[in-house]
Amino acid sequence: MWEYSNKVKDHFLNPRNVGAMENPDAVGETGSLSCGDALKLFLKINGNDRITDASFMTFGCASAVASSSALTEMVKGISLDDALKLTNDDIADYLDGLPKEKMHCSVMGQDALRKAINAYRGIQIMEKPGNVVCECFGVTDLEIISAVKENHLKSAEDVTCYLKAGGGCGNCLERIEEIVEEARAKA
Ligand code: FES
Repeated sequence: MWEYSNKVKDHFLNPRNVGAMENPDAVGETGSLSCGDALKLFLKINGNDRITDASFMTFGCASAVASSSALTEMVKGISLDDALKLTNDDIADYLDGLPKEKMHCSVMGQDALRKAINAYRGIQIMEKPGNVVCECFGVTDLEIISAVKENHLKSAEDVTCYLKAGGGCGNCLERIEEIVEEARAKA
């Protein structure tokens, strides 16, 4: 059983800003139902590039609901540039922490936010740069390297907590461990 903070419990039991938004200015989607977690984020953005409203729909666990709810509260009223600086750690901190095994929920929030803003700005992001390492969750080597650097991950187990990679059949775990070691050696 995971230990959840009171804030996680509150945002899970009383999620803020739930539901599809009518005429959103930006939408960001991440995850997939086949992986067990999915998030769709809706934003209203004014002429000064400031987020005036946010809502979400998610399919996932308590941490996914709480992370999405927290994210929508965090981004309301801030500029797009400031929103792009938000990290998954900021989402977890806002919730007074998430269990390590659930950090991937905050990663989903950060990913959906970046996708929404990039789409709004007309920036085409190449989907999934790098080579797929984990077939079960479609996670690439470059995603793993960046997660290792940004979150100071130390093992394949840490990567599974943040990206879910390795949490299915486990065939990729050896390769993930190699990538973690290489990335840490270069850091
Ligand atoms: S290939 Fe990574 S868990 Fe199955």
